[in-house]
Amino acid sequence: MIELRHAGKKFRQGTRQIQALRDVTLVIKKGEFLSIMGPSGSGKSTLLNLMGGLDQPTEGEVFLDGRPLHGITDNEVTLLRRRHIGYVFQFFNLLPLLTAAENVGLPLLLDGLPFSQVKPRACALLRQVGLAERTEHRPDQLSGGEMQRVAIARALIANPAVLLADEPTGNLDSHTSEEIFLLLKSLNNQGQTIVMVTHDPKAAAYGSRIVTLKDGAPAQDISIGEHES
Ligand SMILES: Nc1ncnc2c1ncn2[C@@H]1O[C@H](COP(=O)(O)OP(=O)(O)OP(=O)(O)O)[C@@H](O)[C@H]1O
Ligand SMILES: [Mg+2]
Repeated sequence: MIELRHAGKKFRQGTRQIQALRDVTLVIKKGEFLSIMGPSGSGKSTLLNLMGGLDQPTEGEVFLDGRPLHGITDNEVTLLRRRHIGYVFQFFNLLPLLTAAENVGLPLLLDGLPFSQVKPRACALLRQVGLAERTEHRPDQLSGGEMQRVAIARALIANPAVLLADEPTGNLDSHTSEEIFLLLKSLNNQGQTIVMVTHDPKAAAYGSRIVTLKDGAPAQDISIGEHES
Protein backbone atom coordinates (compact mmCIF):
# COMPACT_ATOMS: atom_id res chain seq x y z
CA MET A 1 0.00 0.00 0.00
CA ILE A 2 2.58 2.61 1.13
CA GLU A 3 6.23 1.72 0.79
CA LEU A 4 9.27 3.81 1.69
CA ARG A 5 12.67 2.62 0.52
CA HIS A 6 15.69 4.25 2.15
CA ALA A 7 13.73 7.49 2.23
CA GLY A 8 15.41 10.55 3.72
CA LYS A 9 14.63 14.23 3.99
CA LYS A 10 17.10 17.06 4.41
CA PHE A 11 16.02 20.64 4.99
CA ARG A 12 18.34 23.53 4.24
CA GLN A 13 18.25 26.20 6.95
CA GLY A 14 20.54 29.03 5.78
CA THR A 15 23.98 27.41 5.63
CA ARG A 16 22.94 24.52 7.87
CA GLN A 17 21.35 21.28 6.78
CA ILE A 18 18.88 19.42 8.94
CA GLN A 19 18.46 15.72 8.35
CA ALA A 20 14.82 15.41 9.42
CA LEU A 21 14.52 11.79 8.24
CA ARG A 22 17.25 9.29 7.50
CA ASP A 23 17.14 5.97 5.67
CA VAL A 24 13.53 5.02 6.43
CA THR A 25 12.46 1.69 4.96
CA LEU A 26 8.88 0.90 5.90
CA VAL A 27 5.93 -0.96 4.41
CA ILE A 28 2.37 -0.10 5.45
CA LYS A 29 -0.10 -2.81 4.55
CA LYS A 30 -3.70 -2.46 3.48
CA GLY A 31 -6.00 -2.47 6.50
CA GLU A 32 -3.33 -1.46 8.99
CA PHE A 33 -3.81 1.26 11.61
CA LEU A 34 -0.28 2.53 12.13
CA SER A 35 0.55 4.93 14.95
CA ILE A 36 3.74 6.95 14.60
CA MET A 37 5.22 8.12 17.89
CA GLY A 38 8.40 9.90 18.93
CA PRO A 39 9.60 13.08 20.62
CA SER A 40 9.08 16.54 19.17
CA GLY A 41 11.42 17.05 16.23
CA SER A 42 11.96 13.32 15.61
CA GLY A 43 10.52 13.58 12.10
CA LYS A 44 6.93 12.35 12.54
CA SER A 45 5.22 15.07 10.49
CA THR A 46 7.97 14.94 7.89
CA LEU A 47 7.39 11.19 7.50
CA LEU A 48 3.62 11.62 7.20
CA ASN A 49 4.10 14.39 4.62
CA LEU A 50 6.27 12.09 2.50
CA MET A 51 3.59 9.35 2.70
CA GLY A 52 0.93 11.82 1.58
CA GLY A 53 2.93 13.43 -1.20
CA LEU A 54 2.79 16.77 0.65
CA ASP A 55 6.56 16.76 0.49
CA GLN A 56 9.19 14.94 -1.55
CA PRO A 57 12.08 12.90 -0.16
CA THR A 58 15.61 14.19 -0.81
CA GLU A 59 16.86 10.59 -0.78
CA GLY A 60 15.20 7.27 -1.53
CA GLU A 61 11.75 6.40 -2.79
CA VAL A 62 8.08 6.49 -1.74
CA PHE A 63 5.30 4.46 -3.39
CA LEU A 64 1.52 4.48 -2.98
CA ASP A 65 -0.05 1.30 -4.36
CA GLY A 66 3.04 0.86 -6.52
CA ARG A 67 2.85 4.42 -7.91
CA PRO A 68 5.92 6.55 -7.18
CA LEU A 69 5.26 9.69 -5.12
CA HIS A 70 8.83 10.90 -5.68
CA GLY A 71 10.11 12.56 -8.81
CA ILE A 72 6.65 13.33 -10.25
CA THR A 73 5.29 16.77 -11.13
CA ASP A 74 3.36 18.97 -8.69
CA ASN A 75 0.29 18.51 -10.86
CA GLU A 76 0.49 14.73 -10.71
CA VAL A 77 1.01 14.85 -6.94
CA THR A 78 -2.01 17.12 -6.48
CA LEU A 79 -4.31 14.78 -8.42
CA LEU A 80 -2.95 11.67 -6.75
CA ARG A 81 -3.44 13.28 -3.36
CA ARG A 82 -6.97 14.50 -4.03
CA ARG A 83 -8.03 11.07 -5.28
CA HIS A 84 -6.11 8.58 -3.17
CA ILE A 85 -5.09 10.21 0.12
CA GLY A 86 -7.21 11.64 2.92
CA TYR A 87 -5.38 14.07 5.20
CA VAL A 88 -6.52 15.21 8.66
CA PHE A 89 -4.69 18.01 10.48
CA GLN A 90 -4.49 19.22 14.06
CA PHE A 91 -6.22 22.49 13.12
CA PHE A 92 -9.18 21.21 11.19
CA ASN A 93 -8.68 23.55 8.20
CA LEU A 94 -12.37 23.87 7.39
CA LEU A 95 -13.55 26.75 5.21
CA PRO A 96 -15.57 29.09 7.48
CA LEU A 97 -18.16 30.18 4.91
CA LEU A 98 -19.08 26.67 3.78
CA THR A 99 -21.56 24.34 5.50
CA ALA A 100 -20.41 21.01 6.92
CA ALA A 101 -21.75 19.19 3.83
CA GLU A 102 -19.99 21.63 1.48
CA ASN A 103 -16.72 21.32 3.40
CA VAL A 104 -16.94 17.52 3.22
CA GLY A 105 -17.68 17.60 -0.51
CA LEU A 106 -14.99 20.15 -1.34
CA PRO A 107 -12.35 17.74 -2.74
CA LEU A 108 -14.90 16.46 -5.29
CA LEU A 109 -16.18 19.98 -6.04
CA LEU A 110 -12.55 20.91 -6.82
CA ASP A 111 -12.50 17.95 -9.19
CA GLY A 112 -15.41 19.55 -11.07
CA LEU A 113 -18.36 17.49 -9.81
CA PRO A 114 -21.61 19.44 -9.18
CA PHE A 115 -22.75 19.77 -5.56
CA SER A 116 -26.06 18.04 -6.34
CA GLN A 117 -24.05 14.93 -7.13
CA VAL A 118 -21.62 15.31 -4.22
CA LYS A 119 -24.15 16.16 -1.50
CA PRO A 120 -25.67 12.66 -0.94
CA ARG A 121 -22.25 11.14 -0.33
CA ALA A 122 -21.18 14.09 1.87
CA CYS A 123 -24.31 13.69 3.99
CA ALA A 124 -23.84 9.90 4.20
CA LEU A 125 -20.30 10.43 5.49
CA LEU A 126 -21.50 13.04 8.00
CA ARG A 127 -24.03 10.46 9.20
CA GLN A 128 -21.21 7.90 9.49
CA VAL A 129 -19.18 10.22 11.75
CA GLY A 130 -22.25 10.95 13.88
CA LEU A 131 -23.20 14.35 12.45
CA ALA A 132 -26.43 13.57 10.58
CA GLU A 133 -28.06 16.60 12.26
CA ARG A 134 -25.24 19.05 11.44
CA THR A 135 -24.99 19.00 7.64
CA GLU A 136 -26.10 22.64 7.22
CA HIS A 137 -24.00 24.04 10.10
CA ARG A 138 -21.00 26.25 9.43
CA PRO A 139 -17.73 25.56 11.30
CA ASP A 140 -18.36 28.38 13.83
CA GLN A 141 -21.61 26.62 14.76
CA LEU A 142 -19.79 23.37 15.62
CA SER A 143 -17.73 22.18 18.60
CA GLY A 144 -14.04 21.26 18.20
CA GLY A 145 -14.79 17.55 18.16
CA GLU A 146 -17.55 18.08 15.60
CA MET A 147 -15.22 20.13 13.40
CA GLN A 148 -12.67 17.31 13.48
CA ARG A 149 -15.42 14.83 12.54
CA VAL A 150 -16.26 17.02 9.55
CA ALA A 151 -12.56 17.10 8.63
CA ILE A 152 -12.41 13.29 8.85
CA ALA A 153 -15.52 12.96 6.67
CA ARG A 154 -13.93 15.35 4.15
CA ALA A 155 -10.75 13.24 4.14
CA LEU A 156 -12.87 10.18 3.26
CA ILE A 157 -14.98 11.73 0.47
CA ALA A 158 -12.86 10.42 -2.40
CA ASN A 159 -12.63 6.94 -0.86
CA PRO A 160 -8.89 7.28 -0.29
CA ALA A 161 -6.53 4.31 -0.15
CA VAL A 162 -5.17 5.70 3.10
CA LEU A 163 -6.20 8.20 5.78
CA LEU A 164 -3.26 10.18 7.19
CA ALA A 165 -3.77 12.08 10.45
CA ASP A 166 -1.20 14.38 12.11
CA GLU A 167 -2.00 14.87 15.82
CA PRO A 168 -5.74 14.82 14.99
CA THR A 169 -6.70 15.51 18.61
CA GLY A 170 -3.90 17.94 19.45
CA ASN A 171 -6.52 20.65 19.78
CA LEU A 172 -9.19 18.72 21.70
CA ASP A 173 -9.89 17.79 25.33
CA SER A 174 -9.31 14.22 26.47
CA HIS A 175 -12.95 13.09 26.34
CA THR A 176 -13.47 14.47 22.81
CA SER A 177 -10.10 13.01 21.80
CA GLU A 178 -11.18 9.56 22.88
CA GLU A 179 -14.32 9.86 20.74
CA ILE A 180 -12.17 10.74 17.73
CA PHE A 181 -9.85 7.75 18.36
CA LEU A 182 -12.88 5.45 18.65
CA LEU A 183 -14.19 6.84 15.36
CA LEU A 184 -10.83 6.19 13.67
CA LYS A 185 -10.76 2.70 15.16
CA SER A 186 -14.23 1.92 13.83
CA LEU A 187 -13.28 3.23 10.36
CA ASN A 188 -10.23 0.94 10.51
CA ASN A 189 -12.46 -1.98 11.54
CA GLN A 190 -14.45 -1.28 8.37
CA GLY A 191 -11.24 -1.68 6.35
CA GLN A 192 -9.87 1.87 6.14
CA THR A 193 -6.06 1.99 6.20
CA ILE A 194 -4.92 4.68 8.66
CA VAL A 195 -1.61 6.27 9.63
CA MET A 196 -1.77 8.55 12.67
CA VAL A 197 0.93 10.68 14.26
CA THR A 198 0.59 11.17 18.01
CA HIS A 199 2.59 12.12 21.12
CA ASP A 200 0.29 10.17 23.39
CA PRO A 201 1.02 6.47 24.09
CA LYS A 202 -2.64 5.92 25.04
CA ALA A 203 -3.70 7.29 21.65
CA ALA A 204 -1.07 5.23 19.84
CA ALA A 205 -2.51 2.08 21.40
CA TYR A 206 -5.66 2.46 19.26
CA GLY A 207 -3.46 1.42 16.33
CA SER A 208 -2.64 -2.12 15.24
CA ARG A 209 1.05 -1.23 14.98
CA ILE A 210 3.27 1.43 16.56
CA VAL A 211 6.45 2.76 14.96
CA THR A 212 8.55 4.99 17.21
CA LEU A 213 10.91 7.48 15.58
CA LYS A 214 14.15 8.66 17.11
CA ASP A 215 16.35 11.29 15.43
CA GLY A 216 14.64 10.79 12.08
CA ALA A 217 14.68 6.99 11.92
CA PRO A 218 12.43 4.18 13.18
CA ALA A 219 13.81 2.95 16.51
CA GLN A 220 11.00 0.53 17.36
CA ASP A 221 8.25 -1.22 15.37
CA ILE A 222 5.67 -3.27 17.26
CA SER A 223 2.46 -4.95 16.09
CA ILE A 224 -0.48 -5.02 18.49
CA GLY A 225 -3.56 -6.43 16.83
CA GLU A 226 -4.13 -8.65 13.85
CA HIS A 227 -4.88 -7.19 10.45
CA GLU A 228 -5.27 -8.38 6.87
CA SER A 229 -2.16 -8.21 4.77
N1 LIG B 1 10.32 23.17 6.38
C1 LIG B 1 11.34 22.92 7.22
N2 LIG B 1 12.50 23.60 7.12
C2 LIG B 1 13.54 23.34 7.95
N3 LIG B 1 13.51 22.40 8.92
C3 LIG B 1 12.38 21.70 9.07
C4 LIG B 1 11.22 21.91 8.24
N4 LIG B 1 10.26 21.06 8.64
C5 LIG B 1 10.77 20.36 9.67
N5 LIG B 1 12.04 20.74 9.93
C6 LIG B 1 12.93 20.15 10.97
O1 LIG B 1 12.95 18.75 10.81
C7 LIG B 1 12.89 18.08 12.07
C8 LIG B 1 11.68 17.17 12.12
O2 LIG B 1 10.49 17.95 12.09
P1 LIG B 1 9.03 17.33 12.20
O3 LIG B 1 8.07 18.45 12.01
O4 LIG B 1 8.93 16.17 11.28
O5 LIG B 1 9.02 16.79 13.71
P2 LIG B 1 7.83 16.16 14.55
O6 LIG B 1 8.33 14.83 15.04
O7 LIG B 1 6.58 16.17 13.76
O8 LIG B 1 7.72 17.16 15.80
P3 LIG B 1 6.41 17.65 16.62
O9 LIG B 1 6.08 16.51 17.54
O10 LIG B 1 6.93 18.83 17.39
O11 LIG B 1 5.33 17.99 15.67
C9 LIG B 1 12.87 19.19 13.11
O12 LIG B 1 14.18 19.37 13.58
C10 LIG B 1 12.39 20.40 12.36
O13 LIG B 1 12.92 21.58 12.92
MG1 LIG C 1 4.74 17.22 13.95
